[in-house]
Formats: sequence, C-alpha cells, structure tokens
Amino acid sequence: MLSRLPAAALSKQGAFAAARTASLRPATRSGSVRFASSDAASSSGFQALLNSRATLASATLLSVGSIAWYTHLYGSLPFISEVHASSPAEAGLHPAAYPWSNKGWFDSFDHASIRRGYLVYKDVCAACHSLDRIAWRNLVGVSHSADEAKALAEEVEYTDGPNDQGEMFQRPGKLSDYMPAPYPNEEAARASNGGALPPDLSLIVKARHGASDYIFSLLTGYVDPPAGVEIREGMNYNPYFPGGAISMPRVLFDGLVEYDDGLERSPWALGTPATTAQLAKDVTVFLAWAAEPEHDERKKSGIKAVILFSALTAISLYVKRFKWTVIKNRKIFYSPPTGKGH
Ligand code: HEC
Repeated sequence: MLSRLPAAALSKQGAFAAARTASLRPATRSGSVRFASSDAASSSGFQALLNSRATLASATLLSVGSIAWYTHLYGSLPFISEVHASSPAEAGLHPAAYPWSNKGWFDSFDHASIRRGYLVYKDVCAACHSLDRIAWRNLVGVSHSADEAKALAEEVEYTDGPNDQGEMFQRPGKLSDYMPAPYPNEEAARASNGGALPPDLSLIVKARHGASDYIFSLLTGYVDPPAGVEIREGMNYNPYFPGGAISMPRVLFDGLVEYDDGLERSPWALGTPATTAQLAKDVTVFLAWAAEPEHDERKKSGIKAVILFSALTAISLYVKRFKWTVIKNRKIFYSPPTGKGH
C-alpha cells in the first residue's frame, strides 16, 4: 500500500511521525529532547538486558531450579524450617518405600497376595483386631469364589433374632455378615491387652502416615531396644512405632501360617514360602485392599475416562478447526482509491 503513495506524501508522513514521537516523549528539561543515541551506550544496554524476557526466564528458571535442587537434597524447602510438635524420634522411624504391585497409576492389587493375606489376618491378627467394615461378600471375586466365601462365613456363629418366642438365637454366618470381632467391647479388648486398644484394621492403611510401607515396617521391625532405652514391662520396642514402645508384641514368625497356594500348582512350583517378610507383605496387601476395596475398579474407570475424554477432546478440536476454517482462511483486501478524484 505504501509503495503506491507518491514520494512527497511519504516524506510528509515521516515528518509527521517524528513530530508526534517528539511531542509524546517527556522532556526532562525544558526544550531538551533525549535520544537513545545520546545516552551512555553501556547503561541502555544494561537496561535492555535487565528488561529482556530471556533474563526474566533464566532468573526464574535459576531460582526454581535451586529451590528444587535444595528440596531434593535436604527434603524440605529452603528457609522454612520443619515444625515438629515432638522430636523426630518420637514420630517414629520413617519407613522405606517398598515396590507394592499396586503402586503405579495403572497397577492393580496382587490378588493372590490378598488371598494369602486374608489367611494371615484370620490366623494371627483376628485374635486381637477386628475388621468391622469388611463383609464376607466383599471377598467374593477378589480373593475367594462365592462358595469359598460362604464356607468361611459358615464357620462363624452369629447371634440373630429375635425369633417367634422373642429369643435371640445362634446361626451360621452368611455372605452378608460382617467379619466377627474378637472382643465384645472396648473394655474387654483393653483388659486383654494390658490397657492398650488394638485398633480396627479396616482403614488402618489409610489411617497411618506411610500407609502400606509403615504397616510392613512395623510388623517386621521388632528389634531389641538400643543401649540406654528402657522399655516398660509388657511393652515392646519397635523403632517404627511413634515413641518406640508398642503394646503389640511381635506376632509374625517364619512358618506361622500354612499357605494354601502352591499345593495345586505345577510340580515345579514350590509355592509361596511363609517367611516373616512374606507374611507381613501379604497381610499388608490384604489390609490395603480392605481400606480401599474399590481400588482396582477406580483405576480401571480412570483409564477409561482418560481414553474417552482425550478422544472427545481430539474430536472437538478437529470439529472446531473444521467449522472455523472458512473464517480463518478468509483474506480481506483493501483497494485504496486510485487518486483520480484528487
Ligand atoms: C496379641 C494381640 C495382637 C495381635 C495378635 C496383633 N496385634 Fe496389632 N495391636 C495390638 C495392640 C494391643 C495394639 C495397640 C498398640 C499400642 O497402641 O501400643 C496393636 C496395634 C496395631 C497397629 C497400629 C499401630 C499404630 O500405628 O497405632 C497395627 C497396624 C497392627 N496392630 C497390626 C497388626 C497386624 C497386621 C496383625 C497380624 C499380623 C496384628 N496387629 C496382630 C495387639 C495385637
């Protein structure tokens, strides 16, 4: 467009532009106009560097990077000291991170482990701990078949009633019954455990800092108290338990439980060895499942949702471009007056 204008008009335009800039620029002293070229070259160069986007980006990157590096090294943010209501020893030894089979975003529980873990719970933990929120029917399709779960339920007698005579009666368990508790009430539980209450294990994995890692470490972490640490009569030393002294004794030992897997397997497979660590791992997986029975379904639905919504997003982006293409590809031409009228 400009090239069509006569030279005179161009120069006129140039002069007008210069005048406009000059009048817009704030004059420092009356009458004097500052030009970039009249400034000290170094200072303006420095100013430009300070104001450049690259400087801003690299400074941000540097600070974020150093904070991340510090946090990675020391495990806490710089300049913000950790606040402890108690000493770190009182909070318990931090458990190691173990590679649980359900740790990843797309990973499910190890169901053979849940089945073995149930056996450990039933044979060992159920003597002191209840599991209120799990019914026999919850095991169906997870670790046991319906018939197996029914058989397990029928081993337990439940009080039901009243019957026609108004009396309570005993009957074998059904799939809809919840797992039996070892003690009728809290007082009985405390009386049998030296005053300490064995907590219900249904949600214990979620209720403890460190989750599965903590439960596993606690069960396998019983050691002799170190020199200088006194443990009261009836208490046991466990560095993972806050305070170090726990009422629960060590309960898992090699070969304590007889696992039922491996027996019907091929003659080459020896089955799962019932070592202390294996028992602890299996019961922890079982308790992790008990705390979150919807876990596998949740992750499966998550994958479905991601696939579905990303497909829908892709389709809507495509449709949007398709619909807008007519408008986006439109060119607007301006035909200036030819000048004949002037
Ligand atoms: C002899 C009874 C007994 C048996 C058997 C037993 N516990 Fe305990 N458990 C206790 C008592 C008592 C406590 C409370 C400890 C305390 O508060 O000092 C406890 C506490 C716990 C805690 C909570 C620790 C915390 O951080 O508060 C967990 C988890 C636990 N037991 C898991 C198990 C598991 C898993 C088993 C089976 C392998 C098991 N227990 C077997 C008596 C028992």
